[in-house]
Amino acid sequence: MAQRIRPVTGPETERARLDVALQVPAVPVVHAGDAAASVRGFTKSFGHRVVLHQLDLDIAPGEFVAMIGRSGSGKSTLLRALAGLDRDFGGTLAVPGSVAVAFQEPRLVPWKKVLANVSLGLRVPGASSVARQALAEVGLTELAAAWPLTLSGGEAQRASLARALVREPSLLLLDEPFSALDALTRMAMHRLVLSLWTQHKPAVLLVTHDVDEALALADRVLVLGDGRIAHSARIPVDRPRDRDHPELVALRLRLLTELGVPAESAF
Ligand SMILES: Nc1ncnc2c1ncn2[C@@H]1O[C@H](COP(=O)(O)OP(=O)(O)O)[C@@H](O)[C@H]1O
Ligand SMILES: [Mg+2]
Repeated sequence: MAQRIRPVTGPETERARLDVALQVPAVPVVHAGDAAASVRGFTKSFGHRVVLHQLDLDIAPGEFVAMIGRSGSGKSTLLRALAGLDRDFGGTLAVPGSVAVAFQEPRLVPWKKVLANVSLGLRVPGASSVARQALAEVGLTELAAAWPLTLSGGEAQRASLARALVREPSLLLLDEPFSALDALTRMAMHRLVLSLWTQHKPAVLLVTHDVDEALALADRVLVLGDGRIAHSARIPVDRPRDRDHPELVALRLRLLTELGVPAESAF
């Protein structure tokens, strides 16, 4: 595989942040083998505080990985580094393809209409029709000419997903994108994400607080704790999944235990 090596230095700027929100060719690419993302010895400190320590992680092409962990465990820190937003870390990150990110807040540009938000920075022939197609895929055709501030939370998050997917990323990073949505909208978003993933097959790293969200969506769940991947579990259940499937019930208990949540408060 061809290797592109980019410098790891340079201050973070708002501009960089926007680029990544839109979609970026991201991090320094060292060597990823066949992985969509490969992390080796990743260490990140803020002042004297080591948040992530010697963390290793591989994500296979097309694999859907969910990462859970207590608040402050470093999930967003890892995601930001994978997105190329933070280049001040120890260890190596390798991401051979393109990366797109969707955050908890949809981060739409308020003075551009929905279609323009999706096509913003898209440099392909017929960008507008490509963006329209992406809007159709997330069920927002009717709202192409709407202003972002008129959208519901779910609609804005769908626009954000369209903006991420329109670039056909090989790695899609999702940082708690559904946590601000009500339960019904969240379930609809789960179905949408699975259908988009099935169709486009990017590798996905989804950060979530919600164990059930991870169990509904992912091929593999990681628990981040003590600055590293404390636990990794495959989910050997076909989708769509019944949350009462015995494998999922057992895994839920295991993951909650890993998170330090007492089993009796799990239901
Ligand atoms: N820019 C920063 N400056 C100082 N500390 C930070 C910064 N960003 C994150 N942290 C700290 O790093 C830890 C991990 O943060 P974060 O990755 O956002 O956690 P999570 O997403 O798992 O909730 C937290 O304790 C947080 O306060
Ligand atoms: Mg976070």
